[in-house]
Amino acid sequence: MDKKVLVTGGCGYIGSHTVVDLIENGFEVVVADNLSRSNPVVFEGIEAITGRKVENFAGDLAEPAVVSAIFEKHPDIAGIIHFAAYKMVGESVLEPYMYYRNNLNSLLNLLEACKQFGLQNFVFSSSCSVYGNADALPVNENAPIKDAESPYAHTKQIGEQIIEQCNAAYDLNYMLLRYFNPAGAHPSALIGELPIDRPQNLVPYITKTATGELEQLSIFGNDYPTEDGTCIRDYIHVMDIAAAHTAALKTMLTKPSSEWSRVYNLGAGEGKSVLEAVQTFEKINGIKLNYRFAERRAGDVIAIYGDNKKAREELNWELKYSFEDILKSAYDWEVALKEKNQ
Ligand code: NAD
Ligand code: UD1
Repeated sequence: MDKKVLVTGGCGYIGSHTVVDLIENGFEVVVADNLSRSNPVVFEGIEAITGRKVENFAGDLAEPAVVSAIFEKHPDIAGIIHFAAYKMVGESVLEPYMYYRNNLNSLLNLLEACKQFGLQNFVFSSSCSVYGNADALPVNENAPIKDAESPYAHTKQIGEQIIEQCNAAYDLNYMLLRYFNPAGAHPSALIGELPIDRPQNLVPYITKTATGELEQLSIFGNDYPTEDGTCIRDYIHVMDIAAAHTAALKTMLTKPSSEWSRVYNLGAGEGKSVLEAVQTFEKINGIKLNYRFAERRAGDVIAIYGDNKKAREELNWELKYSFEDILKSAYDWEVALKEKNQ
């Protein structure tokens, strides 16, 4: 498919893996990323894997003129995947205004430009955090949207609503993809998760503890009402998430909207505890991790995992990677990164 796609946040973790998958599926990719939360070295990794240099608009999408400039240069964009956002739950609790301003203004500017330039096919990065503390597991797309547990999650709930309202007003073709816990790295170890500060998420914290960059992993809470007392999440390989975006765009570009849905869960469909992640990591990588049990982390839901049946059936998408693949590829990437930086 030789269509042109705009990937906002394409230098970030999920965006960069998706750029690779799109290029490998014949799409032409233009990126818009102001590098506020990423490192331009990622573009070298993308080029090493795909052999392509990707054009990046490095302005802030929260500025309307930055967004207009992209579409003035590329009026033939056939689809937009909107990853660019701030994503740290804890930070959003401390700096709510920053989260609403960045995440919502960027979205509003893009949607306004879609109307102005007559663009369609808008894919939005949403999150399982829109479900809050779900009543039933696995959670499916019809589960009620509960009160958001953080300003970050609230930006995703509001974002989804704004897009739905734009569709009602002027027929914007869109899809909302709700990710569970993306983790792991490209099998080449040329790109992977590259937090600009101390990582907040479990898997990069584990890998950096394993290489000795961080001293000790704290497992937040071992007194939850789960089998081993630690929280349960649905970890999905970032390459499976990337492939789902390519599948989503192909579906939107080739099938009438009556044949697909507006909302899809992207998870592996299985719950794994934090302790299971640690133990599996130790086993497959042959490493002893330095960890301790610590206090619960504010804002954590106890257990969540998703029903991914709809995405598998309607998007012609299937999972290719296991939980073990996630933890192995994440470690390979971390080791490669350490060697490169030495
Ligand atoms: P990331 O921080 O690695 O990537 C986001 C990218 O967007 C960064 O490169 C950053 O520089 C860019 N960006 C942010 N604000 C911008 C702005 N105003 N203008 C231009 N660029 C801007 O995050 P990620 O993990 O790749 O997440 C991508 C998307 O997926 C986000 O919307 C996030 O909320 C969502 N999501 C992520 C997870 C996860 O666990 N990683 C889970 C659910 C949903
Ligand atoms: C959350 C959101 C997700 C959001 C993501 C962005 C939920 C259910 N999910 O993921 O939508 O996009 O943040 O950052 O709200 N943990 C430790 N020690 C650590 C780090 C984490 O024990 O050092 C535990 C956490 O307490 C949690 C699990 O590991 O139980 C996963 O945490 P994390 O990787 O941060 O992701 P979520 O909080 O699930």
